[in-house]
Amino acid sequence: MKKIAILNGPNLNRLGRREPLIYGTGTLADLEQLIRDEAKLLGVAVTFFQSNHEGALVDKIHELADAGIEGFIVNFAAYSHTSIALHDALKSAGLPAIEVHISDIKKREAFRHTSMTAAACVAMISGQGFPGYVQALRQLAKL
Ligand code: DQA
Repeated sequence: MKKIAILNGPNLNRLGRREPLIYGTGTLADLEQLIRDEAKLLGVAVTFFQSNHEGALVDKIHELADAGIEGFIVNFAAYSHTSIALHDALKSAGLPAIEVHISDIKKREAFRHTSMTAAACVAMISGQGFPGYVQALRQLAKL
């Protein structure tokens, strides 16, 4: 069974309460359940990690890579726009990763238009809400 990790970055633990007009009213637990349900249909094993700390996300990428994970779905949230460390961590893992953004980052403030971490990913899905993670899982399951 293919093993995929879903990594969520800062403030995504506040989903449901955080700017619902942009991110919707679903919680992180709702998002994880949606992904779990799809993983079951696809026959993929999923593991979840959320942190508000850049270094914790870097450490988790290393740990999962060493433990034999086969791909990543990442939403590094605000760190997507700034973090060369997370870019390098994904590169060091050498595994397929798909970046997801719930909102459409290209249609928001200029400082969100660039993603440092997307360049270390095989694809980026932006602006599809929670279903963007499901799309990412389907794509990774095929790789
Ligand atoms: C986000 C978009 C980022 O710009 C923002 O900092 C987030 C969430 C999204 O999923 O739409 O925290 O990654």
